Amino acid sequence: MKILVIGASGRVGTDLVKQLLADNHQVVGTTRQEKKLFDDKNYSQLDLDITAHKDAIQKQIDKDIDAVYFVAGSGGKDVLEVDLHGAVKTIQAVQDKGIKRYIMLSTVFSLDTSKWDSPGIGDLKQYYICKHYADQWLVNDSNLDYTIVQAGALKERAATGKVAINDDNAGENSIEDVATTLAAVLKADNTINKVFSMHNGETAINDAIAKL
Ligand SMILES: NC(=O)c1ccc[n+]([C@@H]2O[C@H](COP(=O)([O-])OP(=O)(O)OC[C@H]3O[C@@H](n4cnc5c(N)ncnc54)[C@H](OP(=O)(O)O)[C@@H]3O)[C@@H](O)[C@H]2O)c1
Repeated sequence: MKILVIGASGRVGTDLVKQLLADNHQVVGTTRQEKKLFDDKNYSQLDLDITAHKDAIQKQIDKDIDAVYFVAGSGGKDVLEVDLHGAVKTIQAVQDKGIKRYIMLSTVFSLDTSKWDSPGIGDLKQYYICKHYADQWLVNDSNLDYTIVQAGALKERAATGKVAINDDNAGENSIEDVATTLAAVLKADNTINKVFSMHNGETAINDAIAKL
């Protein structure tokens, strides 16, 4: 498949691109950095800024892309322009391009405002509001075959290969396990039009996804 990874230079994006290339996909990664991120014949790169106009974003996206990952984010610095409006413009651009599959990395409880008073989330309220409405847009206002993966905290620690999906705790994740889960979602059509939360747990990633 030819796959667009929006946010290929990020911590999750880097692991995700490596896994997609290992799975023999052709990957187009986006970054505003000049240097080529991966030295692989199946990798090409796009200098994409999602704060640009939606039509400009759309022009940069190839028609023959089979699936899109959104793993970009502002890191709290520009949540409105990047995590909300930037994300929504990519959803609109991808849809208008005629591409169907869109896999969004989001955050745990993004769509469950009843959980937002907990201490870890309260400090990130602006970010949560932005992810909430971007996710809502994808679910309610697009006709894309979406999957939203709502990860708990991302940690730079060794992969475990095991997760808990849709339990009641926010939890923590090895970044590599989040990338593995995102890569597995692409192979699992039962994840289409589903939203699920994840953190490291006791179930092998493929088994957990198969149960969705
Ligand atoms: N941190 C957590 O605990 C946590 C938990 C759950 C979910 N998440 C979500 O996971 C996402 C990815 O996390 P991460 O740690 O991998 O992020 P990261 O390392 O900060 O990477 C951010 C990515 O976003 C891209 N980006 C930023 N602004 C952009 C813009 N204006 N236009 C285009 N691309 C832009 C960056 O590309 P450039 O190379 O162009 O800068 C980079 O590839 C977060 O943004 C967040 O929404 C995070």
